[in-house]
Amino acid sequence: MSRINLTSLRKMKAEQNKIAVLTAYDASFSHVLEQAGIDIILVGDSLGMVIQGQESTLPVSVEDMVYHTRNVVRGSEKAFVIADMPFMSYANPDQAIMNAARLMAEGGAQMVKLEGGAIVVDTVKQLVERGIPVCAHLGLLPQSVHRLGGYRVQGRDDEHAQQLINDAKILQDAGADILVLECVPADLGARVTKAVDIPVIGIGAGNDCDGQVLVLYDMLGITPGKRPRFSHDFLADAGAIPAAIANYVQDVKSGAFPSAEQQY
Ligand code: KIV
Repeated sequence: MSRINLTSLRKMKAEQNKIAVLTAYDASFSHVLEQAGIDIILVGDSLGMVIQGQESTLPVSVEDMVYHTRNVVRGSEKAFVIADMPFMSYANPDQAIMNAARLMAEGGAQMVKLEGGAIVVDTVKQLVERGIPVCAHLGLLPQSVHRLGGYRVQGRDDEHAQQLINDAKILQDAGADILVLECVPADLGARVTKAVDIPVIGIGAGNDCDGQVLVLYDMLGITPGKRPRFSHDFLADAGAIPAAIANYVQDVKSGAFPSAEQQY
């Protein structure tokens, strides 16, 4: 069975078919996600918080990411697998190339994801020139949580909103093939999605994005603490994990998720 690829994902955007994405960190969940028809599995560095119990994603290592990516890839056959590049593993282009190569060659990822706007443009260009597909990540950047002063909605004022749209365009021009957009007002999510040709996957970025992603343990309602407003406990409704994940995929595809209460 061949995996979903960038051509099929671009076609989904062009044909306005929503892209369903969830995080996973092991082979068993990867298999369940795939059975439910997930398009993309993101091996997020959120594993630092939901698997390792850390306070942020910052302590996650390249080694951790390679290990979890390898397990996710083993559990799936069809989904497109993206692996996060952890904090400071892409501080310069050379370091980024070495670490991204590990995530792809040892982990088996089809794409790597890194956080940031103009500051990472050179790195994105160099990764893409070497044949490494890149997913950009804008809006709330969890690896910059201490600079941002917490996990807050981004792009609320005109200046920051415009900056974010400009960043999305320059990242696309640098060669990024997918953009994750986290925690921005829904109208800004819609503007960014319209401004670029690459698929925009939202998390707390409103219903008009080309697809949606959630942290798996948030949507199963098992992450300790308060659930983010943009998430929903699908397990509470469905009563079983495979049904919860199937409902999520269906709700993303139909546009039922996110609803008005799950947007900013
Ligand atoms: O690490 C992660 O799970 C992510 C999502 C929040 C998009 O980057």
